[in-house]
Amino acid sequence: MMRAMVKKSIGAVGTAIFAIFAFNNASATVVGSFHDLSPFTANTTAVCVFCHTPHGGDTSFAAVPLWNKVLNAPGAYTRYSSLLLPTLDGAEAPVGSVSIACLSCHDGTQAMDVVINLPGSYGYNAAGTQIDVGAIGPMGSPPVRNLGTDLTNDHPISIQYAGGGCDDSDADGTCVGPLGDPDFNFPEKTTINGNPVWWIDTSVGVAGVREKTDLPLYARADVAGSSVIEPTVECGSCHDPHDGQTTGGPGSVQFLRISNAGSEVCVSCHIK
Ligand code: HEC
Ligand code: HEC
Ligand code: HEC
Ligand code: HEC
Repeated sequence: MMRAMVKKSIGAVGTAIFAIFAFNNASATVVGSFHDLSPFTANTTAVCVFCHTPHGGDTSFAAVPLWNKVLNAPGAYTRYSSLLLPTLDGAEAPVGSVSIACLSCHDGTQAMDVVINLPGSYGYNAAGTQIDVGAIGPMGSPPVRNLGTDLTNDHPISIQYAGGGCDDSDADGTCVGPLGDPDFNFPEKTTINGNPVWWIDTSVGVAGVREKTDLPLYARADVAGSSVIEPTVECGSCHDPHDGQTTGGPGSVQFLRISNAGSEVCVSCHIK
């Protein structure tokens, strides 16, 4: 608890300093942010290792970049859809993509420093090894909310965008729908390496150009009942895990893609 408090003040100071020097242009990085776990252990000074490995990452349940943590099975989670709300239109894909990567810390089921590939030689273990036993545990409740494995009280994830209407057979450009749920803004699409890439153009930055301040939708081929590749909403649609900048003024959290002042994150997707 003490360590977490110290870390928080370091994070706040770091963000303030960064704001002075860099408000014009780049955003803050993962170094010194809440996602920099290196100060909590004497066993490594590496920052990326808590999430990434250059070789041998876990891709079992998710398409995530070089993931250095063992992923929980999708069935371990209780979904938003189990609330049986009459208003939900989107079909779900199994809990996966970048979301299950976030949950490998944020569901509180394993220590945050359990990694597949320890820093240094002879460190590979597909089942995971803890970098510093005792120093870093699983995510607790306070001060930051532990999402747990019951996701019914969290914004839907691994969910089809807008109840469907856009897929990989669409031409590049703005999706023309019709959307399954018309209360949504139309996503943009481009093609990279022959694969569809979707995003929501926010009011920040240049319209029609895919930028860091836009909200990515994740291409999934496993949306229930679908035989095509479709865009879904995942944790990474709203959050950038590397951006330790606290956007949006007082009371806002780190790792949002854009400031949520005026609920800008929400209304980038929802027409409400
Ligand atoms: C707390 C976990 C975490 C840490 C620490 C972390 N990353 Fe990531 N990184 C992720 C996740 C999650 C994604 C997938 C993001 C997405 O889908 O938008 C990602 C994606 C990436 C990508 C590809 C997407 C992009 O933004 O270009 C690169 C490159 C990357 N990380 C590099 C790094 C480096 C280098 C470090 C250390 C300085 C680092 N990351 C630290 C979680 C982390
Ligand atoms: C990246 C796009 C995106 C963003 C950003 C977003 N949402 Fe959503 N939201 C969705 C999708 C897609 C659904 C699923 C809706 C459906 O299928 O009916 C959803 C569902 C919801 C629901 C549940 C709807 C229901 O019928 O049960 C609520 C409430 C909601 N969002 C509120 C918010 C709020 C508040 C914010 C801002 C903090 C937000 N959303 C940001 C895409 C988004
Ligand atoms: C390696 C473990 C780890 C992974 C993986 C991870 N996080 Fe975190 N996250 C943390 C820790 C540690 C904190 C800070 C907890 C605290 O201060 O109590 C945190 C805090 C946060 C916060 C709150 C920041 C604030 O200002 O209160 C958000 C938002 C967040 N993470 C989102 C994500 C998302 C989204 C992903 C995946 C893209 C992710 N995290 C992946 C460990 C992780
Ligand atoms: C639709 C957008 C959206 C999605 C999807 C989303 N978040 Fe968030 N999240 C937010 C916003 C906005 C906040 C800031 C809330 C606030 O200011 O209190 C937030 C806050 C958080 C926090 C800080 C604690 C809290 O509850 O305020 C954590 C941790 C977090 N998110 C993790 C995640 C993880 C992990 C996922 C995926 C399982 C996820 N988020 C998916 C929008 C989203």
